[in-house]
Amino acid sequence: MPMICLSDFEAYAKKHLPKTTWEFFAGGADECCTRDDNLLAYKRIRFRPRVLRDMSVIDTRTILLGTEISFPVGIAPTGFHQLACSDGEKSTARAAEAMNTCYITSTYSTCTVEEIAAAAPNGFRWFQLYIHRNRALSEGLVRRAEAAGFQGLVLTADLPYVGKRRDDIRNNFQLPPHMTVKNFEGVFEEESCSEYGLPPNSIDPSINWNDIYWLQSLTRLPIIVKGILTKEDADLAMRHGVQGIIVSNHGGRQLDGGPATIDSLIEIVDTVQDRVEVYLDGGIRTGSDVLKALALGAKCVFIGRPALWGLTYKGEEGLREVLQILHDEFRLSMALTGCQNVSEIGRNLVQFSKL
Ligand code: FNR
Repeated sequence: MPMICLSDFEAYAKKHLPKTTWEFFAGGADECCTRDDNLLAYKRIRFRPRVLRDMSVIDTRTILLGTEISFPVGIAPTGFHQLACSDGEKSTARAAEAMNTCYITSTYSTCTVEEIAAAAPNGFRWFQLYIHRNRALSEGLVRRAEAAGFQGLVLTADLPYVGKRRDDIRNNFQLPPHMTVKNFEGVFEEESCSEYGLPPNSIDPSINWNDIYWLQSLTRLPIIVKGILTKEDADLAMRHGVQGIIVSNHGGRQLDGGPATIDSLIEIVDTVQDRVEVYLDGGIRTGSDVLKALALGAKCVFIGRPALWGLTYKGEEGLREVLQILHDEFRLSMALTGCQNVSEIGRNLVQFSKL
């Protein structure tokens, strides 16, 4: 079966994964309205293409917090990559390194931060943190990630509790016995682990803006907050000294009924006014989605589920294919709208459909 676009990888994953794994990857919270709106919202945006602008050379590179990447698509943090391929996050790290882009590694990886760093020693990586009630555990993990060469700390802010994902409840979703949340190996009694491989209620629901100061006291890494959807919170994030904001609704897996991320982007970009970098994830499935997000002010976007589909298809190679397709589609969209490089991408490139 020729793999032409990301939907081909989605179809492959749906066909080949065990049902419970497929539903864990695909699921959203409650009625999945926000998950689905993340994708639909792109269809309401149209381009205002410019022509006759010499498209013989197109440069897709950009810079994230001082580090150059080959094109503005990175890998969002998702847990448990061994569910998709046997090498798990080591394959993800190698694919991101080969494609010269940023990989945000989840706290809930099935390989340790040290194993991931060793698998792709020259890769550009940020570490995603969930803060646990056991603060010493989270502190230790931040220090390990910094020591392993991760270059940024991404605090996920939208998960004081896990959203209600109906399929996971129906399926009684559990990690297979041979897989663990490897960064925490030996910390929890195995029999006490139920929810997503961890003891229930292990995440600290009391986290608040002051915890940014706590993180700043632990690490010199730049801090990026993930899960911002309003200008008010973007403003608070800046006032607490973060270096980046990821506009995200967790792929619609947390609050159902929140906005599509592309719809929240404009108010956040207008508030931030280039003082910190703004990124986005959720619903990116084509290169033209990437271009629309950049036109509305995102510096870079990140893919969650499509990375898992690529890993399911052929591990590292499958994820490289997914990234290559997005790269090529993005480049072509730039060419067909008249943009030679990412600095030429601006808000006048898009309009909202009157349909
Ligand atoms: C996630 N996401 C997520 N986010 C996070 O901060 N830490 C995590 O461990 C996970 N785990 C996770 C697992 C799975 C299976 C999915 C689908 C998502 C959310 C993720 O980072 C991102 O916000 C969304 O996946 C983006 O939406 P798309 O690209 O999947 O539409």
